[in-house]
Parts: sequence; structure tokens; C-alpha cells
Amino acid sequence: MTIIVTGGAGFIGSAVIRQYMQQTNHTVVNVDKLTYAGTAESLKCVAGNPRYRFERLDVCDLAGLRRLFAAYRPDAVMHLAAESHVDRSIDGPAAFVETNIVGTSVLLEAAREYWNGLDAAGKQRFRFHHVSTDEVFGALGATGLFTEETPYRPNSPYSASKAASDHLVRAWHRTYGLPVVISNCSNNYGPYQFPEKLIPLCALRALDGKPLPVYGKGDNVRDWLYVDDHARALRLILSSGKVGETYNVGGRSERTNLEVVKAICAIVDELRPDDRIPRHESLITFVQDRPGHDERYAIDARKIERELGWTPEETFESGLRRTVQWYIDNAADWQRVTSERYALERLGLKATS
Ligand SMILES: NC(=O)c1ccc[n+]([C@@H]2O[C@H](COP(=O)([O-])OP(=O)(O)OC[C@H]3O[C@@H](n4cnc5c(N)ncnc54)[C@H](O)[C@@H]3O)[C@@H](O)[C@H]2O)c1
Repeated sequence: MTIIVTGGAGFIGSAVIRQYMQQTNHTVVNVDKLTYAGTAESLKCVAGNPRYRFERLDVCDLAGLRRLFAAYRPDAVMHLAAESHVDRSIDGPAAFVETNIVGTSVLLEAAREYWNGLDAAGKQRFRFHHVSTDEVFGALGATGLFTEETPYRPNSPYSASKAASDHLVRAWHRTYGLPVVISNCSNNYGPYQFPEKLIPLCALRALDGKPLPVYGKGDNVRDWLYVDDHARALRLILSSGKVGETYNVGGRSERTNLEVVKAICAIVDELRPDDRIPRHESLITFVQDRPGHDERYAIDARKIERELGWTPEETFESGLRRTVQWYIDNAADWQRVTSERYALERLGLKATS
């Protein structure tokens, strides 16, 4: 198969591409604009592989996409390219509307034109897999789980833009017959995640002995999934998911943000002891909450477990330890990233200042 993966230079897309290169014979065309969140480092190990191609392109560029579809004649598209950070969406929603909504509609149109020109067998084989988030469902209270039937109630500009893109994908299936699958996953963590997100931010700050900002009281709950488990789920959904269906993906690992940060601190205490900071927990600082901060997300992943036989391999404890160890081993690279592109500062408060 030849698969176009959009956003392949990002955190999850690069994990998917590494798996495709290491575990299959597929050809992958990585279509990525290389925004601040994209990095070539994460794909260094596959860069020389003749089955891997990189095309620097904005998913809003219809002419460029048409050219790529014609040149590579893909069997599938896995669409991950997005603006992905809630705090940035609060400071500047326009880029989220542009990439996540407009970009998805442009990609759908390019895929539809190409798909219309395929023969019957090619048409049947083709898949458009849209990668989305559990945040589209809004916030849960203390109990309950998001299922595939949960109504959409997004609360942040990020989740609203992802919800809109999910609706477009569904409409392109219902109206034009484009063979789509959609997946909605909980919070991912693991190597190569851009350090604006909670786990790498706190791991890198703890290693530097800097204060660890925890929003509000730290009692917001997220479900966490190790990125390689998500990448396996995505490959399975693309190859075996039923056309027109959506699949929720989650790790059965609900934790409050405070529990996550304390767990990072305990691992850093053990793996990188520092006489000046005997307990890294002492660096925790409670800061102003995120505007509109969703209280709790939790996923019912029984459909993908039952129908496609997927289960996570990593527990939260084992995955977090691997992740913190990875940031310790690669601290120099990430210090460069942070010095060039993001200094670990607080984002998402422009609306309230
Ligand atoms: N990170 C999570 O916890 C999580 C959970 C569930 C779903 N998702 C979804 O998975 C996808 C990937 O998330 P991620 O965490 O890897 O994101 P990321 O921010 O790490 O990577 C996004 C990638 O998309 C690229 N990109 C951005 N705008 C583009 C454009 N206009 N054209 C082409 N490329 C563009 C960036 O350069 C980057 O390489 C997103 O769609 C996100 O909504 C993420």
C-alpha cells in the first residue's frame, strides 16, 4: 500500500510512520507543513528508507494536494495534520479554524476528486482515515464514559475545530460516498511530544529544577494512552475499520493532572537524583486555571477492543517511566528545541489578561 500521512512530522504522526517503516512494507508519503510543532528529528531513523517520502505542504493547498495524489496514487490517507494545543487555540483560534477546518475540507476535496477517478476495485479499497480527539465530546462529571454515540459538545476553540472537521469527514461519506473512518482518542504521551504539553513540559522543567505549573487545583481528569499504542490502533483502524464508522481509543488510565505531575516527579527523583532538590514534588506550583478547562474526559474503548481486537500494551506507569527516561536521554535536543521555538512559558491566558 501507499499511504499519505498528513502531519507526519508531529508527535503522533511520526510514531505512526516509524511503525509503518519498521513493521510493514507500505510506502508512506509524509505531507507536513512543518509548523513550530513539526520536527525532522523524530523521523531521522526512517529518512533514508526508499519507502519513505517527505513533501513539505500545507493541507490548505489544493493545487499541491492534487499534484501529490496524481504523483503517488495512494491507497489511503491518514489525516493527522492539525493545530493541536488547546492553550494556543485560546490565544489565537484563527490558525485552528484554518488548518483544522479549512485544511480538512481541502484535503477531503482533493481525496474525493482522486477517488472519483479510480476504477471500481480502487474505489472500494481506498480509505480516508481522520484522526480526532475525545475533546470533541466536551466535559464529563465525576462519572460516565464517552462512547461513539456521545453527542458532540466541544468547549475550546481547538476541540470545536476538531469537531467541525469530524462533521465534514462524516458528510463527505454520507453525501459523496467517500470511504472514511474516524477515530477519537484520549490524551497521548511519549517520546517526541512537543514540550508545550503537560507531560514533556513537566519532565523537562523538573530536570531543569524549574517550578512545575499545575492549572487550578490540578483536579482535572484525563485518560492517558502511550503514543505507540495509539499508533497501533490507528494502523488497525485504517486496515480493518468499517467504512463510515468511528472508533474511540483510550488507555483506561484516568489520572488527575496533579497525579500525573507527582508521578513524573517521583520518576525524576529516582532516575536523576539531585541533592539540591531531594523531592521534585516541592517544585509544584498551582497557577491560574485554563479558561473553560474541561473537568474530566474518559473513554469507553470497548468497540475497538471487541471489533478490532486492540488493547494497549503499555500501562500508564510503564509508559510514563519510558517517556521520562527518553526525555532524560534526549534532554540536549529538547533544550535546543525549547531555546529556538518555545521557552516552556505559560500559554492560553491572553483572553484573560
Ligand atoms: N496529542 C494528543 O494527545 C492527541 C490526542 C487525540 C487526537 N490527537 C490528534 O492527533 C493529530 C496529531 O496530533 P499531535 O499531537 O501529533 O500534533 P502535533 O502538534 O505534534 O503535530 C501536528 C503536525 O501537523 C503539522 N501541521 C500543522 N498544520 C499543518 C498544515 N496546515 N498542513 C500540513 N501540516 C500541518 C505540524 O507541522 C505537525 O508536524 C491531531 O489531529 C490531533 O488533533 C492528538
